[in-house]
Amino acid sequence: MTIYAAHVVDTPGDPFAGDPAAALAEDGALLVCDGVIRARGSLATLRAGHPGEPVTRLDGGLLVPGFVDAHVHFPQIRAIGGLGMPLLDWLEKCALPEESKLADRAYARAVAAEFLDGLVASGTTSALVFGSHFAPAMDELFAAAARRGLNITSGLVLSDRILRPELLNSPETALADSADLILRWHDRGRLRYAVTPRFSLSASDDMLDACAQLLGKGVWFTSHINENLAEIATVAGLFPGARHYLDTYGRHHLITPRSVFAHNVHPGDAELAMLAEHGASVAHCPTSNCALGSGLFPLRRHVERGIGVALGSDVGAGAGLFLPKEALQAYFIQQLLGDGGLALTPAHLLYLATRAGAQALGLGGRVGDLAVGKDFDAVWLRPADGSTLAVNLRHARDTSDALARIFALATPADVAGVWIRGERATGSLDAEAGAVGAPAAVAGDVLVDAEVVLGLAEHHRERQLAVLEFDDGELELGRFGGQQRAQRAHGHVVQLAEDGLPALGGRVQGGELVADRVEPVQRRGAPLPDQGHAFDRVVRAPAAHPVPVEEHQGHHASVRHKIVCGYYPSAAI
Ligand code: GUN
Ligand code: FE
Repeated sequence: MTIYAAHVVDTPGDPFAGDPAAALAEDGALLVCDGVIRARGSLATLRAGHPGEPVTRLDGGLLVPGFVDAHVHFPQIRAIGGLGMPLLDWLEKCALPEESKLADRAYARAVAAEFLDGLVASGTTSALVFGSHFAPAMDELFAAAARRGLNITSGLVLSDRILRPELLNSPETALADSADLILRWHDRGRLRYAVTPRFSLSASDDMLDACAQLLGKGVWFTSHINENLAEIATVAGLFPGARHYLDTYGRHHLITPRSVFAHNVHPGDAELAMLAEHGASVAHCPTSNCALGSGLFPLRRHVERGIGVALGSDVGAGAGLFLPKEALQAYFIQQLLGDGGLALTPAHLLYLATRAGAQALGLGGRVGDLAVGKDFDAVWLRPADGSTLAVNLRHARDTSDALARIFALATPADVAGVWIRGERATGSLDAEAGAVGAPAAVAGDVLVDAEVVLGLAEHHRERQLAVLEFDDGELELGRFGGQQRAQRAHGHVVQLAEDGLPALGGRVQGGELVADRVEPVQRRGAPLPDQGHAFDRVVRAPAAHPVPVEEHQGHHASVRHKIVCGYYPSAAI
């Protein structure tokens, strides 16, 4: 069990259903056991109720639920930034040529890793992922997602017309390949399958019929709809008997509570009524809609009918994987709609980036907020000291205001940590560190509770304790030298001597180690912050000692995600 001490903020309520501020909740600590939140409250309460449990301090910033992306294309991670084209041109010139490359399984494997690592680095822990047109590429995606413990719903993309020939499959192969993937991946751990015709523009009635047969297997459904006026006109021409775009799916019984339709920028009232009637959800993709000039999403019309709307990054048409950016763009769009828009508050934005997606994906009972019983999927947003976001957080009036500043300013560089079902996935010191006491700290270990340790160099005559530089989840060696200090570091860092007493260290403030500048022997025993202070990490020095500082620096490029701690036993000094 671990107690996380943090400014926990989430939206267990629905800000679209009543007073938005009432949808927000906040607390000072969570107790996590086996990846699940077991208690929530103030740090004092949880500590009193669970004495002896290690405390991980996440001081500064906010701890929010892992983001939920309701629409993102994994084969497009290398195709972001194709500006200046409307949807159909962009597909032809930008997206589809890249997607064809996933026919090569090794290529798909590399893309899957880049995509999933990108999601995690952006704080996204659950996603409905538009897949590849190639079944082996889907195996790569699912396998890589399982390794990372991510909550991924995805499926083989199906098309049988209009697109480049290598992206087409027949309804028969679509059925066989999808059924095989469903058997092997659906409901395996945190993975689920979604039947995924690309859009009815590229899927004939026979293909949509095959999709309907697959839905009988209890899986999810996703596709595109009403994104762009030229697309809508083409679909109308291809399905002369359909009442509207949604009806091309509806005629095949593909509109269900397990269906998520991306975009819906230009819906008719009859389509909205039909979505509401069948309990289907919509993924709103704000930066994509703006980049492709698709239009301004009518959020109010959806909300008024009770249609669930979640956020999608829609990478590669979208401008990145970071959902707070989508939330901000959603806010901008509603502002631009004037009276027709729905003014979004910070609570709305957090809800859209987290719980709304969980609800749309039917995962609201497991993720999307940080209530007791939910999986501990969480993002620690903690900006660098001195950054404009840090300055703004310091001046926030209250939690809602702090959230507003986060949505205005945060980037993936502010993701100081991500937890996936209790496992720390980024900003991780886990590889070579654990909670104090497990294992017990030994001589040479460095105890750390700094939120971010960024190159702390203690200088005492010729003796140096060189610790870590830790930036965006990446650990690098500090630059050592009497004049050099970490640029930003707060907390406590203590190195233990042979007798187990603190030999060197103290409180770190703004990159400076604050300790009495006295002889080393007199320091012993001095700088521990408080009796019983809970350090949250033990950094074990590497086995080979002593390692000259220059050598550490030489390895600079190769120490990603590893702790390297310069330790200089007395003999080496
Ligand atoms: N419609 C069909 N395919 C796509 C796609 O890849 N991206 C977007 N934004 N819309 C689509
Ligand atoms: Fe899309």
